[in-house]
Amino acid sequence: MTVKVGLIGVGPVGDRIVRCLKERDFPLAGPLRVMATRYRREILGDEEFEVHETSAELFAGLEVVFFAGREGAKGASAQWAQTAIESGAYCIDNGSDFRLDPSVPLVVPEINMDEVTADTKLIASPNCSTTQLVVALAPLHRVAGIKRIVVATYQAVSGWGQAAVEDMQRQLPQYVNGEAVEFDPAVFARPIILDCIPHIDRFTDGGYTKEELKMVNETRKILNMPDLPITATAVRVPVDIGHAEAINVEFHEKMTAQQATEILSDPQHAPGVVVIDGPTQDPNVVSARDAPEELQYPTQADVKKDEYKDMVLVGRIRQDETVDSGLNMWVVSDNLRKGAATNVVQIAEEMIKRGILG
Ligand SMILES: NC(=O)c1ccc[n+]([C@@H]2O[C@H](COP(=O)([O-])OP(=O)(O)OC[C@H]3O[C@@H](n4cnc5c(N)ncnc54)[C@H](OP(=O)(O)O)[C@@H]3O)[C@@H](O)[C@H]2O)c1
Repeated sequence: MTVKVGLIGVGPVGDRIVRCLKERDFPLAGPLRVMATRYRREILGDEEFEVHETSAELFAGLEVVFFAGREGAKGASAQWAQTAIESGAYCIDNGSDFRLDPSVPLVVPEINMDEVTADTKLIASPNCSTTQLVVALAPLHRVAGIKRIVVATYQAVSGWGQAAVEDMQRQLPQYVNGEAVEFDPAVFARPIILDCIPHIDRFTDGGYTKEELKMVNETRKILNMPDLPITATAVRVPVDIGHAEAINVEFHEKMTAQQATEILSDPQHAPGVVVIDGPTQDPNVVSARDAPEELQYPTQADVKKDEYKDMVLVGRIRQDETVDSGLNMWVVSDNLRKGAATNVVQIAEEMIKRGILG
């Protein structure tokens, strides 16, 4: 059984989708059909692809199309998802255009894959910061019931696309050489190098950014808790890849830090999660810092390791002593992989397993 696959968008997310399909041995029927706004040849993963200018006839014969284009009225899914569906393809969308549409499931395979049926022609994948949050919290929610979430994010520049990565890369040598740091105000409102910017996406009337509201609304939809009290502060940090989140979560039932560590360390209960916590395994760190109490924890650099690149890493699991049942935790994941590409490829893999695709 093989599947004829199309891809729209060749930014960092499109690139990671190509890599994921190859690494995970996705059963492709023939070459991947790659589209963007204009024709050229481009290296994606380690392979050169012909990138076509997107047009209706290119969808003929495709069984599934991964959308990794820009969002909004001129974006890829707004312009082409309906055409793809009419051509007979399932569409799996990385963008935000349809995430809150009640007729479109917003899917993280570890949590709510059952919302996808053969009739689900369009499937949305959550915002990167939402995905890692729900992958880490859903296993605890199943046991103790989440009462409230407060989250602050530390998000990589690649979350804002290739232009943002290039903006930071230009600023680094300028800073090191003592030159005036230039920035493109169309990307971030200030230089990102050696600074943290509490501003991701546009501001809305209440003072929250759209990124913060995405986390609120998407988490409620995925966990099927429309009234869940959840509040977020989203911050851009000068890291190329990987988002981190400081999460405070309160539960209805008892949940200790030890219980949470056990649940999140068990792949049956918490698929896709790796706990990196407890005494450090590195004797050099202990002796160099003369700190036998040193703990281990994940950072954004860890998501570049092969064994962690598709996982959600959890550390610093601590009891919140100010409430009856609550925890603080630190959650890290690759925004381009589990936050985007890996999640959409996993959705397609599950669709194959369930006989929906292929
Ligand atoms: N970056 C992340 O961490 C992340 C995480 C989760 C979700 N997402 C979402 O994933 C999507 C892709 O992200 P990215 O960072 O890879 O974006 P990006 O760097 O801006 O790249 C967007 C790509 O989409 C193509 N495109 C845009 N509009 C199109 C249209 N109307 N028709 C056909 N192709 C079109 C562009 O074509 P050209 O190259 O020809 O201009 C470009 O290749 C976005 O919706 C983003 O919000 C991103």
